[in-house]
Amino acid sequence: MDPNNPNKEFRSTPEYAEYQRDNFWADNEGRVPPLNTHPDKLEERAKEKLTEGGWYYASSNAGLSTTHLANRQAFYRHRIIPRMLVDTNKRDTAWEIWGHKTSAPVGFAPIGINKIYHHLGELPVATVAKELNLPYCLSTAGSTPIEKVGAANGEGPRFYQLYMPHDDELTVSLLRRALDSGFTACILTVDTWQLGWRHDDVANSNYAFYHGIGHDLGLSDPVFQKRLAEDGIDPDKDPNRAGAKWIDNVWHGRAHSWEKMPWLIKTWKEMSGGKPFAVKGIQSVADARKCVEIGCDGIVVSNHAGRQVDGAVASLDALEQIVDAVGDKIYIMFDSGVRGASDVFKALALGAKFVFVGRLWVWGLSIMGELGVRHVMKGLLADLDILLNVAGYQNIGQIQGNREALESLPKAYSLIQERAKI
Ligand code: GLV
Repeated sequence: MDPNNPNKEFRSTPEYAEYQRDNFWADNEGRVPPLNTHPDKLEERAKEKLTEGGWYYASSNAGLSTTHLANRQAFYRHRIIPRMLVDTNKRDTAWEIWGHKTSAPVGFAPIGINKIYHHLGELPVATVAKELNLPYCLSTAGSTPIEKVGAANGEGPRFYQLYMPHDDELTVSLLRRALDSGFTACILTVDTWQLGWRHDDVANSNYAFYHGIGHDLGLSDPVFQKRLAEDGIDPDKDPNRAGAKWIDNVWHGRAHSWEKMPWLIKTWKEMSGGKPFAVKGIQSVADARKCVEIGCDGIVVSNHAGRQVDGAVASLDALEQIVDAVGDKIYIMFDSGVRGASDVFKALALGAKFVFVGRLWVWGLSIMGELGVRHVMKGLLADLDILLNVAGYQNIGQIQGNREALESLPKAYSLIQERAKI
C-alpha cells in the first residue's frame, strides 16, 4: 500500500491495495470506512436492512442448503502455499476476457430483481462495475430495462445472461436489445428451468414476479408488450398477471434441451457477428464435453450458488474435473460460493479463467446501495492485490492453472452442520 511505489506507473490497473491505506487513514480525516467487508458481517447487516421477502430471496438456497455448504467446504479443501521474497512491488491484477482488458479476472454474477434489494435496482451495480472495470452480467430476470443498464454501464465490459423464453421471437428481441445496448457476449443459464424448492420463499409466497415486482425488463420489450396485448393483460391494471406471464415464459416451469441449442447459437452468432456464447450452470464432465461439441465458446461451472439442486456436488470440485477434461478446448469460468480473494485465487489455480461473484455485492447493495457495492467490490480488488503481494505472485498469469500454488486435501467433508453458514 505504498503510495510511492514506483511500479505504480507501469501497472495497467490502479494499485487497489492502497484502498487498505485509505481505510486505515480515514479516521484521521474524520471519515469511517463504509462497511465491514467480512461476509458474515455483510450478511448480518443485509438481514437487518432488507424486507423479510428481500432477505429470504437473497439468502435462500435449495432444500437444506447442503450444496451451499459443499461449495464452501470445497474451498477449505485447498490451501494456498505462499512464496516469499518475490518482487511483488512489480505486480498487477489485470486480466483479459474475450478481448476486454479488465482490472481482474472477476465479474459481477448475473442476479435478478435487484429492486428487491435496493430501489435503484441494477443501475448502481452497473455503474460501479464500469468504474472498477469489472465485467457486469445482466440477468434476464433483472428489474431494469436492458437499455438503461447498458447506459449506466457506459464503456464498461458487459455480458447478457439469457433465460431463454419459450417464444423465439421474444428471445430474438431480448438478444437484439442486448446487442444494441452494448452487451458483448451471451451467457445462457441452463440450471434454472424453475426455482429450486426453497423453504422460506415457498412458506412466505415470496416470489416478487407474482406480486407485480421485477418484470420491468420484460415490460419494456416490444414483443412481450405484444404478447400482453394479445392476452388482454394491462400491466398497469394487473401487474401480478403481467409479471407471471413474463417469468412463467422465461424460466418458470419448462425446460429447454440440447436440441434447441444449435438454433440459439446460430441465431446469436448471426445477430452479433460472432460474439462469444457461453453456457452457465455446468457441473458434469459429460455436459461440458457436450458444450464443446456444439460449439460453445465458454462455460460457467456453477451450481447457482446452491440455490437449485440440494445435496449436489461442490462447484469447485466440479471445476477441477471439468478443467482436466476440456480445459484446453473451451473457456472455463466459475462461480458459486466465492467469498473473498483467496477463493478467487483457488478457482483460478484449479484452472478457471474467470470468476463471478454474486452474494457479496448483493449484500453491499442491500445495505448501502451504490456505496455498498463499491466498497465491497473495491475491497475485493484490494484483497486480491494484497494477496498477490503477501503470497508472492506478480500477476494473475502466475496463478491461473497453477495447481502447484495449492495444497489440495482429499475430499472428506463431514456434513455436520444442518444449515450451511459461510
Ligand atoms: C434465480 O436466478 C434465483 O436464483 O433466484
